[in-house]
Amino acid sequence: MIELTAVSSAKSRPATEVLVLPFYKGEKKAEPAFSHSLDENVKHALALGDFLGKEGELLLVYSRSAKEKRIVLLGLGEKKSCKAESLRKAGALVAKFCRQKKLGSAAVAFSELSFAEGLLLGAYTFDSLKAESLKEEMPVRLKEVSFLDAAKGFDRHLEKLSVIVDAINFTRDLVNGNADDVNAETLIETARDLSKQLPALKTTVLTRKQLEVEKMGLMLAVNRAAICEPALILVEYRGDHKAKDCTAIIGKGVTFDTGGLNLKPTGSIETMKCDMAGAATVLGIMKVAAKLKLKVNLVGALAVVENAIGSASFKPGDVYKSRSGKTVEISNTDAEGRLILADAMTYVQDVFAPTRLIDLATLTGGIVVALGDEFTGLFSNDDALAHALIHSGEITGDLLWRMPLAKAYRDYLKSRIADIKNAAGKRAASPCTAAAFLQAFIGDRKGKKGEPLPWAHLDIAGTAYLDDPRGYHTSSATGVGIRLLIDFLETSLH
Ligand code: BES
Ligand code: MN
Ligand code: ZN
Repeated sequence: MIELTAVSSAKSRPATEVLVLPFYKGEKKAEPAFSHSLDENVKHALALGDFLGKEGELLLVYSRSAKEKRIVLLGLGEKKSCKAESLRKAGALVAKFCRQKKLGSAAVAFSELSFAEGLLLGAYTFDSLKAESLKEEMPVRLKEVSFLDAAKGFDRHLEKLSVIVDAINFTRDLVNGNADDVNAETLIETARDLSKQLPALKTTVLTRKQLEVEKMGLMLAVNRAAICEPALILVEYRGDHKAKDCTAIIGKGVTFDTGGLNLKPTGSIETMKCDMAGAATVLGIMKVAAKLKLKVNLVGALAVVENAIGSASFKPGDVYKSRSGKTVEISNTDAEGRLILADAMTYVQDVFAPTRLIDLATLTGGIVVALGDEFTGLFSNDDALAHALIHSGEITGDLLWRMPLAKAYRDYLKSRIADIKNAAGKRAASPCTAAAFLQAFIGDRKGKKGEPLPWAHLDIAGTAYLDDPRGYHTSSATGVGIRLLIDFLETSLH
């Protein structure tokens, strides 16, 4: 992890390999975003008009007189349009620059938290599968960054930021990792390790036998052809003993999705190690909650299976019984995420009686078609919850777009032989029919008949794993949802 320091005056800054000077774009020239004097070479470059401060602009100036040998002029665009997201992108740009130039330390001449966030997120690389090629050329990692002109208390913000980005990188590693390495067994180990490091977390694991006892027929069905046993991993955190309030966060943990007997074609199957991103995100959130000692009560649940193909596979056309008692006709074995979530959601409601439930799942290809990788699809039966989440999305940059949850879509799932089928016969509105299926497993709030449990479903199929990494998402896995839900938990529950 990069060590971040807040330095109150520029004069007392430590010597680093590069000094980053941020500039806004003025009418005709660049305007410094900081308050101290400029190096002669920088003045010269500015006078020549080589640098205007446009968003994304970088100019490297070499200096003989400054404390640093290199000075980087960083353009932030116009001040009035420079929001948190522009600062995050600027931070990622500096991280990329340091990586390319193999710099281990930097000083940044302003103290903007969003910039630090982008820098930290953008410094992530996933190269653990590249060990051989890296031997020739040792990577230089950015180790220390100081932020100048820092106001009092900025160091506390940096500390908190480090905790959050550390958890995001933990989640990114799990999602980027080989499907063969990140399976039910190793996820169980990871969750147990986490609660060993952080005693505020309590981990319980239900494996095949217990899932049978608990009648979780859908989780068992999906995992039938897999080598690993299925697991429901529960991680509890109580940060507010006085309150009855409890948020359940459930993640889809399909360690690899072949599609099952409705096998995925070439072109769709290659990225399916990402299908446990929801579960990995839940672990990341639990890690942050415990480390930051958030004053909330949480139960995290990871529904972990592999949707493998083989003679033991669950079968299209067959009917399986869910934990809720509802029977499900399998119209498509590739619609497996909703099956395991249904059982996990029922179990969590039965056992923990949460006051709200949020699920994260790489659930449908349709949400990728609709929203690409810009927005996560949000479905919710509760306007206040939806609005709070959308707001946290705007604050953190984990953007959400609300999609319709409607009775009409439920009608697409009518089965002639069972209570419900898992996929509609047509592709139309597939993210919406998937959400409608999940909604069938949301019960009433405990002790409040007719009042459904407030629930939000986040379809992260487009945002959790990118074909083309960009900005502060430097690898396929983004860790989307962690900054979103931490902001939500911190700001919306009291
Ligand atoms: N894991 C996939 C969804 C997915 C697609 C995730 C692209 C990430 C990127 C999911 O299990 C799936 O296969 N969904 C099907 C459902 C269909 C059969 C009703 C889909 O969306 O095509
Ligand atoms: Mn699938
Ligand atoms: Zn899937």
